[in-house]
Amino acid sequence: MKIASLYNLKGGVGKTASCVNFAYRAAKDGFTTLIWDLDPQGAASYYYNAQAPVKSSAKKIIEQTISLKEAIVHSEYKGLDIIPADRSSRKLDLLIDAQNGSKKHFKNLLKDGASSYDFVFIDCPPGFSHVADNIFYASDVVLMPIIPTTLSVRTYEQMSAYFEDKEIDLGKLLCFFSMVDMRKTVHKDYVQELSADKHFFQHYIPYLSDIEKMGVKTAPVEVFAPNGKGALSYRELWAEVLKRIKG
Ligand SMILES: Nc1ncnc2c1ncn2[C@@H]1O[C@H](COP(=O)(O)OP(=O)(O)OP(=O)(O)O)[C@@H](O)[C@H]1O
Ligand SMILES: [Mg+2]
Repeated sequence: MKIASLYNLKGGVGKTASCVNFAYRAAKDGFTTLIWDLDPQGAASYYYNAQAPVKSSAKKIIEQTISLKEAIVHSEYKGLDIIPADRSSRKLDLLIDAQNGSKKHFKNLLKDGASSYDFVFIDCPPGFSHVADNIFYASDVVLMPIIPTTLSVRTYEQMSAYFEDKEIDLGKLLCFFSMVDMRKTVHKDYVQELSADKHFFQHYIPYLSDIEKMGVKTAPVEVFAPNGKGALSYRELWAEVLKRIKG
């Protein structure tokens, strides 16, 4: 089991879009794949038309009144399962706080309930929190989408500093550019400058209307536009991610 989380402390940078498309690709490649939607907005669950099978399941998972396995549903795609978010997901931070704020909950839960999967993708809410600390501890790789603008790139520096403060292995932090518009000088300059950084992937995700349409189509981009640039970009980036994860 390899655990990959899609994280950025900033909102609206393409975490969910990337989580949904990477997981779809992984399953297509024949890996048994699980998405854990930890964002109370439930966007990844929405894209996969998935609903929690048990009321307040996020709360019950943390309180261990249900097992992680009991919260898993099949998606309509072969080899791809999901733990949907539900309304209780917004209380996760308080629930972890009530349990001594330990950073080890998610890792232990996944070890017990998801070890049969090749890949677990976690869609994270933005911001630093107990939830984020649990995710960093559990993840083999923290995949961070970054829009190539000044404030967004700053989050990379903030994340690196946070990892150092908390003594989390900085090698886990892997970044890629998202929503890139190469017609913009700022975007072009940041992509060129940071491609040389070992924490950044070479492939990036352009700003594309195909990817935006996922909301209307409620499906990964490859399902409704398999030959478009969006599907191609995610395929190429996923291949690069997979190579890094597999070593
Ligand atoms: N490459 C892209 N091109 C165009 N639109 C995109 C792209 N990636 C994401 N979007 C759109 O931008 C919006 C934000 O993307 P997404 O939900 O993936 O971000 P997020 O980081 O998960 O946000 P949040 O922090 O709210 O969870 C969505 O409407 C999504 O459809
Ligand atoms: Mg999101």
